[in-house]
Order: sequence, then C-alpha cells, then structure tokens
Amino acid sequence: MRRKLAAGNWKMNGSRAALAEVGALVTTHPQPGCDVLLCPPATHIAWMAEALAGTPVRVGGQDCHQNASGAHTGDIAAPMLADAGASHVILGHSERRADHGETDALVRAKAEAAAAAGLIPVICLGETLQQRDAGETLSVIGAQLAGSLPASADPRTIIAYEPVWAIGTGRTPTLPQIAEVHAFLRAELRRRFGTAAEQMRLLYGGSVKPDNAAQIFAVPDVDGALVGGASLKAADFGAIITALEGTV
Ligand code: PGA
Repeated sequence: MRRKLAAGNWKMNGSRAALAEVGALVTTHPQPGCDVLLCPPATHIAWMAEALAGTPVRVGGQDCHQNASGAHTGDIAAPMLADAGASHVILGHSERRADHGETDALVRAKAEAAAAAGLIPVICLGETLQQRDAGETLSVIGAQLAGSLPASADPRTIIAYEPVWAIGTGRTPTLPQIAEVHAFLRAELRRRFGTAAEQMRLLYGGSVKPDNAAQIFAVPDVDGALVGGASLKAADFGAIITALEGTV
C-alpha cells in the first residue's frame, strides 16, 4: 500500500549543466515503477521543476525556514519552495543539524511550516557512530522522532533513517541493523498515529549505491532510499530506481 520512493539529495552540488543528467534519467526511466524525487540546491529548483514538468519526477528543497516570510536574510520560506515548483522538502538532515545547530524543535517547526505551504516533509533522523557504539541508537532515534515530527503529522510525511556515520562514507549498517531501526520507527509511528502509520514511508539513507540498493530494499519496512552522492549521476540513480522497481 506504500508506494516506494527513490529520493535524491544533491546537497550543495550540481549546476545548470546537470540538466543533462536529469534529462538522461527521464529518458531511461520515463515511467518509473516507483516515485522519484530530486532535491537540488534551492537555486536549481525552478529550472529543474520546469525541465521535469509533464514527467512523474518530483522536485524538492533541502531545507526551509520555519516562518512563511519576514526579515531572515539568506533563508528560504516553504511557500517560496512551493512557488518555485517543489512538492517536498528535506528537513533535519544531519548535515543541517551539525552545520546549523538545528534542534528537533526547530525541525518540527519547519515541518509544520512545510505542511502549511502544502509541501511534504522528508524528516531525517540518525545516530552518530559514538551513539551506536554506546548502544543508544534506538533511544536517540526515538527522541529525534518524538521531537521532530509535528503532533498531527500528515500521513504523507516521509521519515528518512540516515545513520550519520553512513553518510558519504561508503559504510552502511548491516541489514539486521537497518531492519531493527525501521521496525522500531514503524512501531513508534503506529503508537502515535494508529493506522495512519501504515501509509507513512520510511526511507533508508547513507551510502546507498547501485551495488547495495537491492539488498537494502529487501529489508522489511524500507520503503525506498534517500540518496546523496549516487543521485548526481543518472546512471547510478537510475540503477537504484531499477533496484527499487524490482521490489514492487
Ligand atoms: P550519501 O548521502 O548517499 O552520499 O551517503 C545520503 C544523504 O545524506 O542523504
């Protein structure tokens, strides 16, 4: 009942020249058997949305401000992302939590702002290696989930489990470790939202590549991936989409 989702997080990468990669992706996957989302830097959202108009690929932001407008130099409000053609927004990515001191409460406020603007939030959670080694993974994830998710989350809200130590490192958790966290997240969502939890998609993120995607997608309660580095190249992201289609 949950449609799979392959989401690409371009982070602070890419230029207009990357249009060729986007074009190649659409050419090789004109009717993907899963949802596909690309989240480029904010300056690229409008042109990418225009380039992808009429295709099933959606465009998202990587962050938004918690206010709808105002004196916040350099920030971008959720209604602006929507106006530029975005349908989703990544919130609380560990790089923003680390680089910009984003707290769970701030991520929650941003998620509320995103929902008010009609955007679907992709809320990121994940433990550090130190926390995993200390046996704190589930308590850390549980606290982040409780603190970052709005009280009345739309069932379209997406959660991405991204262990901090797996992002951009080429290291991934074992499949049982991924399964443990995803089962825990589903159970927590059921406890909070009841049957609506069955509709909420749980993505895994952190060093997802063409050669490990299929095995990660076979893990129960993994509804897709949030892909960083491998989403920049159409061939790699396309291979990940193909792996996800194979699980449908
Ligand atoms: P990665 O990044 O795929 O490059 O590890 C994932 C992410 O941070 O969303």
